[in-house]
Order: sequence, then C-alpha cells, then structure tokens
Amino acid sequence: MSGAPASGAAVPLLAVEGLKKHFPILGGLLRRPVAWVQAVDGIDFAVAPGETLGVVGESGCGKSTTARLLMHLVAPDAGTVRFGGRAINAPGGIGLSELRRQMQMVFQDSYASLNPRLTVADTIASAPAGHGMKRADAQRLAHDLLARVGLEPALFLRRYPHELSGGQRQRVNIARALALSPRLLILDEAVSALDKSVEAQVLNLLLDLKDDLGLTYIFISHDLNVVQFISDRVMVMYLGRVVEIGPVEAIYAEPAHPYTRALLDSMPAMDPDRRTTEPPLSGDPPNPINPPSGCRFRTRCTFAEAVCTAREPALDTVAGAKFAGHHAACHMARAGSGHSKAPAPGAGGDSANPVTAGARP
Ligand SMILES: Nc1ncnc2c1ncn2[C@@H]1O[C@H](COP(=O)(O)OP(=O)(O)OP(=O)(O)O)[C@@H](O)[C@H]1O
Ligand code: SF4
Ligand SMILES: [Mg+2]
Repeated sequence: MSGAPASGAAVPLLAVEGLKKHFPILGGLLRRPVAWVQAVDGIDFAVAPGETLGVVGESGCGKSTTARLLMHLVAPDAGTVRFGGRAINAPGGIGLSELRRQMQMVFQDSYASLNPRLTVADTIASAPAGHGMKRADAQRLAHDLLARVGLEPALFLRRYPHELSGGQRQRVNIARALALSPRLLILDEAVSALDKSVEAQVLNLLLDLKDDLGLTYIFISHDLNVVQFISDRVMVMYLGRVVEIGPVEAIYAEPAHPYTRALLDSMPAMDPDRRTTEPPLSGDPPNPINPPSGCRFRTRCTFAEAVCTAREPALDTVAGAKFAGHHAACHMARAGSGHSKAPAPGAGGDSANPVTAGARP
C-alpha cells in the first residue's frame, strides 16, 4: 500500500485504504442533496506502532474529517480502517466500543470538550467508571493520571474547568484520553490554542507520555514547525487527498510535491537557506465540491503541464527518493510520466528534484 510506514513493522497499528467521505449539500424545498463536498476522497495510509504521524494541509483539506472517520464519529462512504490488523466495525473485526478504548482523540478547544459541571476527578474517572471500573478505583486512577500529566492532584482534583488555565485544561483532556489505556491518540490541533511557552511544555509532556506508555500518535496541526519537532513521518493533504507522505526528513528537506514546497515556503523560516523570493501559495484552495480534473493542485501549481490536466497522479514512490517510504502524487516524481521535469524512465537515483532545485517553469 502506498503511504505505508518506512519502519517496516509487520502489522501497522492503523491501516487505512480507500477511505472516503463526501458530505451532502442540501437544497430545495425537499432538502435533497444538490452537491457533495469531497471532504476525504479515497486516502490510503498506515501508522506503525510507536510512531508519530504528523498531518498537515490548509484549512478544509480534510484533516479533521479523516480523524473523525478513524474514530467512527462519522461513518465512511467507502474504504477500510484496520486497527491492529482487525477491520473496524466489520464482522469478526474490532467493535466500536473496543475501538474507542484503544483510540482516543484530543481536540483544540479544551474548554468546549470538558463538561463545566464535572470536577477534574469526575471528568477523568467518567470513562473508566462507564466501562465498569469501581468508583474508588476510577478516582484513584484519576489521581494518578493527573499527577502523570503534571498537575498536582491535591490542588486540581476538585477543580472545575473554569478554574483552570488553557494549558491545565489541555492536560486534563490528555489525562482523560489516557484513562482507558489507549494505544493510539489522535491529537487534532491539540496544542494550537496554547501560548508558545505552554505549547512547548505540553509537547514535551506528549513526548514523555509516548515513551513511557508506548503510545502511537496522529498529530494534526497547521504549525509546520511543531509537526517537524514531534513527527516521525508526515502526511500532506490537499482537497481530500494525500499528496505526499514520508519520513519527516524527506518531507522537510526533499519535498517532492509542489504543494508541500509551498507550505514549507509559507512557514516562518528558522533556516535562512529555506527562504525564497517566490510567492508561496496564492489564493484559496479550489472548491471541494467540484475539484479540478487531473491533479487537484494544478490550478495553483507553477509546474502544471498538459499531463496534469489529463491524468490524476497516483500517490507512489518518489523517483530517486533519498528516503525509504517517500511517496508523492505528482507527475514530476514519476519517471516517464510525460511531464517535462520527470526523470527519464530508468534514470538513477541522482536525478535533480525539480521541487527543491528551485527550478521554475
Ligand atoms: N458535517 C459536515 N457537513 C458538510 N461539510 C463538512 C462537514 N464537515 C466538514 N465538512 C467540509 O469538509 C471539508 C473538510 O473539512 P475538515 O474539517 O475535515 O477540514 P480540516 O482540514 O480539518 O480544516 P481545518 O484546518 O480548518 O480544521 C471542508 O470543506 C468542510 O467544510
Ligand atoms: S502533477 Fe502537475 S500540477 Fe500536480 S503538483 Fe505535479 S506538476 Fe503540479
Ligand atoms: Mg480541522
């Protein structure tokens, strides 16, 4: 499968194939579907046990819908999701109740995701109690988890959400997500609303927890610096599709898709060598109701040629990739695709990467 982890783990913790969700736009007196938003349009990827997969892309590209599909908070139109080798919600597979024990989600809005009438202790204890744990045991677990996320239990167990700072609330959300001993955490902009110094503390906490508890993360964020810091691999989405996926070093040092390059160019540069005089991304993404034919990025791509309109590029191994497991959906990354900047068929691994070479049409 393209998008498989480079680590070569025999059974990925999560394996996604052909995942699709189109939302209806209802219209007319009868409120019938008049159009469909292609929020997630057939994506494949896998996550190895113990790794962190970063997910990036502009607003509306389908990151949160992907997360909600993985959790089965919305039902997919098509595709399969396998967790630990077992299909989700399929005969003989893993049921939703067990899935939601093993896979938990932390959102950006820490206040909205906490019940204002529950104390911190009851917030953390509610899921284990709901799964049959005795009240005293669930309260003891809440105590231990609170300490684990860096909040002094004696000070915080009896507090209510409005008595907490944003960083403290997010620590409580993380403790709550850990209460059922999950294997995978989906973090959807989980640190995005925090001040930079608090964000750094919560990121370090997430790294510690991952090591101590053997967790696997899917880390969704707009912040490419944070994604680079925390991820082992990165998946780039555009208009409901995966356009590039690979080890973090490949994505940041050798991006093979012009969209990834444009995202990196628009990131606040730490490294002066990365700064370019080219305008990064102009305009908004096209409407996901009616995406462009062929390559969906072609209307904003400075490299677009006739082949990009004629044929949609598959997500496949980047020709001459320097990193294992580096896949991109771009005709320039495929030998013999018919794009003028694609390597010739049979070309070795030393052909120049047109995206990083700074070559412009
Ligand atoms: N319930 C829904 N009904 C209709 N359209 C939806 C629904 N949920 C999401 N969408 C649309 O699906 C597309 C993908 O949305 P999604 O929330 O997954 O994007 P995102 O990448 O998470 O964006 P952001 O970075 O802003 O969080 C968008 O066009 C959005 O408007
Ligand atoms: S396939 Fe063509 S339009 Fe799409 S990103 Fe590659 S060069 Fe640009
Ligand atoms: Mg989102």
